[in-house]
Amino acid sequence: MAEHKKVRKAVFPVAGLGTRFLPATKAVPKEMLTVVDKPIIQYVVDEALEAGIEHFVFVTGRNKHIIEDYFDIHFELEQTLRERSKNAEITLLAGQLPKAGTVSFTRQQEPLGLGHAVWCAREIIGDEPFALLLPDMIMKSEAKGCMKGMIDLYAQSGGNIIAVEECAPDQAHKYGIVGVGDAIGDGFRITGMVEKPAKGTAPSNFFINGRYILQPEVFKILETQERGAGNEIQLTDGIAALMRDERVLAYRYAGQRYDCGSKLGYLQATAAIGLKHPETAEGFRASLAGLLEGRGLA
Ligand code: G1P
Repeated sequence: MAEHKKVRKAVFPVAGLGTRFLPATKAVPKEMLTVVDKPIIQYVVDEALEAGIEHFVFVTGRNKHIIEDYFDIHFELEQTLRERSKNAEITLLAGQLPKAGTVSFTRQQEPLGLGHAVWCAREIIGDEPFALLLPDMIMKSEAKGCMKGMIDLYAQSGGNIIAVEECAPDQAHKYGIVGVGDAIGDGFRITGMVEKPAKGTAPSNFFINGRYILQPEVFKILETQERGAGNEIQLTDGIAALMRDERVLAYRYAGQRYDCGSKLGYLQATAAIGLKHPETAEGFRASLAGLLEGRGLA
């Protein structure tokens, strides 16, 4: 079997305004909203770490500098924790800190769309395949994570891989939708892609769930990509163009996904993760039951 160039770097586009979470996002980037005890972005970085990613590239925008601070040492805090012998907390922070030199930040200066945000990472990625994780989505799987599953498929197939899931037909207009070709391993060959198709026109029920492995050739296409749905430079259109020369496979993700870009998805993530967290599981379960049965908080 041919050796495929290793996927070492991952891009996290974190420049979005987070208008669905105003007023909170006036002061806090949506990626930093907390699910139980970690910001959303930490769950997404953990998924990439599990998949063996070594370098983390954040495409940020104005007012996102706290993401940079979050992935850095907090000297005064750590000093105070040491003085107070808070060893568990010190260990926790050390475990979350990326190794020096493995995190890069670049800015998307204008909000021109996801395709443009990804293109902004081209100099840092260089001539390598890369992973792309949209940080609205938290993936939680009992088995292997979404990106890990994709990396395993990539080890067999190489090329470009997009994770997909099935949605109800009346939800297809919210997503990028793929056309379905021959089955290959855990996935299938993608025959076409359309971003946010008008109702009733989607080529299938398989939507793009926000996880990609892409070859660097996509940057050349994004450079001249015209605006598409929502008058934005769309990644989906760029990948559809890439399909003229390159193979694009779909990986069918079967685990749980929480769309933290919406209030409901964010609450679902909080509930699901809170019900499993060792410090909150028992009390939270009792409280939820009390609320649902009209008895109030237990
Ligand atoms: C983006 C992608 C879309 C994908 C979706 C998943 O859209 O453009 O293809 O289905 O993420 O969340 P957005 O949610 O940024 O509008």
